[in-house]
Amino acid sequence: MTLAGRGDLPRHVAIIMDGNGRWAKKRRLPRVKGHEAGIRSVEKTVEFCAETGIEVLTLYAFSSENWLRPALEVNALMQLLKRFLRREVPRLQRNRIRLQAIGDLARLDDSVRAELRQAMAATADCPGMVLNLALSYGSRGEIVRAVRRLWQAADRGEVAPETLEPETFARYLDTAGLPDPDIILRTGGESRLSNFLLWQAAYAELYFTATLWPDFTAAELQEIFTDFQHRERRFGMISEQLQS
Ligand code: FPP
Repeated sequence: MTLAGRGDLPRHVAIIMDGNGRWAKKRRLPRVKGHEAGIRSVEKTVEFCAETGIEVLTLYAFSSENWLRPALEVNALMQLLKRFLRREVPRLQRNRIRLQAIGDLARLDDSVRAELRQAMAATADCPGMVLNLALSYGSRGEIVRAVRRLWQAADRGEVAPETLEPETFARYLDTAGLPDPDIILRTGGESRLSNFLLWQAAYAELYFTATLWPDFTAAELQEIFTDFQHRERRFGMISEQLQS
């Protein structure tokens, strides 16, 4: 599928899926019903991005701060995640989508980690889009993990502090090997990044929509992509330099 517009499509799209709870509340339903409805938006978004030729789609599915929610909701989210992983593998394989995950995965329950490992192994050879799930993820935690890995590498003599550059540092982040996000989109009406991809967001185009995640559609995402194609990304330079 191609989209009308002058510029390139984003290579990497990252989404903060917010508004499930409010969607449920508006319908006098338990919050969990909002998360269930959110899964349908996940499926539609994954399908649309893969068809459009997006290289990486990162979804903020569970933040490190989400552990502080009531146990009932945390458990329900973990069950939904397991069900999603189990059910989605054949579709991911059909659409040649490779599953990856970033975050403090050691904090996940063994059964969730096992399901995740299985789904990643089953799609490891898929050559198409990368579906990157941010699970138990927080950007500050990720940066600290990167510093720890770097420190260990320095102890082994593999890296010297004087030679450290931003590009070298990025190799120790959970997102090593992935391009930086071109678009970070947040649904649900809040205009903040909430500890999501703070390092990687340096030159991302930011989009905030009031649409609650379960109401989010491929048509709205298509509009966002078209808008993105008309933005001038200067990366600190001036327009004339880009034109030449
Ligand atoms: C934010 O809505 C959403 C989450 C904390 C979880 C997102 C999870 C899903 C969309 C479903 C599971 C995802 C996968 C990939 C299996 P909120 O609860 O903060 O909404 P609110 O701000 O309206 O309360």
